[in-house]
Formats: sequence, structure tokens, C-alpha cells
Amino acid sequence: MPDNLMGPSIGSDIGLALSYLSQGFPVGIPTETVYGLAANALNPEAVQRVFRAKKRPDFDPLIVHVGRKSQLHQYAKGLPRQAQQLIEAFWPGPLTLLLPKTSLIPDIVSSGLERVGLRMPNHPLTLELLDQTGFPLAAPSANLFGYISPTQALHVREAFGLEVPYVLDGGPCSIGLESTILGFESGQAVVYRWGGIELSDLTEVLGYVPQVKVKAEEHPAAPGMLARHYAPKTPLTLLKENEAWPPATERAGIILPFQEPLPAEHSVWVLSESGDPFEVARRWYAVLREADSAGLTRIYVRMLGPDIPFSQALNDKFLRAAESD
Ligand code: TXA
Ligand code: MG
Repeated sequence: MPDNLMGPSIGSDIGLALSYLSQGFPVGIPTETVYGLAANALNPEAVQRVFRAKKRPDFDPLIVHVGRKSQLHQYAKGLPRQAQQLIEAFWPGPLTLLLPKTSLIPDIVSSGLERVGLRMPNHPLTLELLDQTGFPLAAPSANLFGYISPTQALHVREAFGLEVPYVLDGGPCSIGLESTILGFESGQAVVYRWGGIELSDLTEVLGYVPQVKVKAEEHPAAPGMLARHYAPKTPLTLLKENEAWPPATERAGIILPFQEPLPAEHSVWVLSESGDPFEVARRWYAVLREADSAGLTRIYVRMLGPDIPFSQALNDKFLRAAESD
């Protein structure tokens, strides 16, 4: 099929996705956060193919996606009461819990770590798929390692060749930011990655403010090494909330969360004209891709002020997209 020469085919055929997954092939799946590149989490060879397709180092563990809360007991040993409360409050949804893994989870999934990341995604197609597989799905974000995360099926298609035969198209992601990652240290909740569930939401359920240890992602064993992430190829510079625009000496583009008065000479993307922070989150990765392929010499991004929903998560993503200084 000529279609296949360009990359994986796309559609909403759950049966086809199931058939590829059962044969050990990686499949792109929609979630509410970003698209994932999924494999049978209980099959080490299938998981290995995901690492290979993504060009992801094997020290960087994958999140395991389950279709029902009750399945958790098969993959996590002993569920702290706080974890149960968080699951009741936020699953299905953008919260990943790091919990001690059972021997059912192969070491390749957790990169040899004692804990496995588990979450129940909130997308009807993927939940239906998980209902049919009978196995959980290990799935990192479906981008090449280090590049911008995918929020549409086409983004997944663009990233991969025939190693990934199929992308299940569930439309654009409704949240557009990765899941928040949380674990426990000495019985206290710790946030390891900002994402779709905010600190204030967690605090409300836990009854205390969790500690935050958000460091370089994708390399839990060596924090700081890979701070640059979710990054475009075009150099990107951040502007503080009230910082003035630099003079237009280069072919610069500007990404703004919200409307503001602008010098006419730049290309401008406004993430939410109506001032909706949820829309800012939803559109960020797709707009960053667009700006990255616009032939610019530099992209400027206006950071968000505090007290705006998702400001911690968004500013963190902006920072990681920026040059390393
Ligand atoms: O929203 C999401 O979480 C998306 C969708 C597809 O579910 N997935 C996602 O996966 O963002 P990924 O692989 O791109 O990012 C997962 C992060 C990585 O930084 C990884 O190091 C960390 O989670 N992680 C996964 N399992 C872990 C574990 N057992 N211990 C420590 N960190 C872990
Ligand atoms: Mg990722």
C-alpha cells in the first residue's frame, strides 16, 4: 500500500489495533494527555520494539496503562491509602502513580527500577481497546525521544515508519499536557513531573501539599542531564511575564498564551484568543510544531504568570523547550 510507505496507517479500527498489539507490534493510541506508542506491557519483546522505534534509551522507564482501577492490584504491590484516594479522585485521568511493581511487570518496562508508573487514561477509544486486550499497555509519548510530544494522530504518523503499523485516531487530545507523576517517599506524596493534575488538586485530596521534585525528565537516575526536552529544532527563547519584546533583527516567531499588543513585524501565534488556560494547554504542542516548521531563526515564548491554571506545568514545558541556559 503506497499509504504505508509514508508511515503508519491511521484509523479508528479497534480490532486492527488489537490485532497488531497481540502480534507484538507497537500501535499509536490516543489519550486525553498526549498520544502514546503502545505495546503489550507483559511482553518484553513488544516493549523492546517501542524503545527501538522511539530511539529511547533503555534506562528511561515506560508508564503502564490499565483499563480498570481494579486491575491495579495485579501490577502494584500494596496500595497506600493515599494512592487509593488519589485514584478515586482522578482516575481515569492525567495522574500517573509510581508504585512498587509485582513480578508480572517485566524489568524492561520499569528500566530495572522497583517502582512502575501506572495510570488509567481517560479516552473512550483507548479504554475500549484496553477492555479488549486483556493485557495492560506500556506507552511512552509517541514522539521520537527528545522531540515535541504528539497531540494528534498525524503527529504520530509523521514520527514513525513501518516499525509502527497503525495509529488509532481518537482526535486531538483534550488536555494536551502529559500526566502528572506522583509517588511516595516515607509515606509522603512526591510530585516528579508537572502535568494535567495540578498541585492544588492533589493538595485537596491528600490534605497536605506534596513535596515537589521535578527535575530533568527521562533519566530518573541522573537528574539534570536531559533538561532540554519536548524541544523544537529552532532556537527558542523565553520571555518573562512582563518582559518587553526584543527588536525584530531576525526572522522571529512569537508564541503567546494570551492576546497582547505586538510589534507588527513578527509572526505570531496566540494559544487562546479567548483567554482560556485550558485551550493554551491543549494547543501548545501543536502550535510549537507549526512554529518549528515555519522556517524561523528564533521562536519566542511568553511565560505565564502565577495563579493561572496549568501555569506550573506549562512554564515547565516552555522551559524544557528552550535553549539550555
Ligand atoms: O500523559 C502521559 O503520561 C503520556 C501518555 C501517553 O500516557 N505518557 C508519557 O510517557 O508522557 P513518557 O514516557 O513520555 O513519560 C513518562 C515519564 C518519563 O520521564 C519516565 O522517566 C517517567 O515517566 N517514569 C515512568 N516510569 C517511571 C518509574 N518507574 N520511575 C520513575 N520514573 C518513571
Ligand atoms: Mg515523553
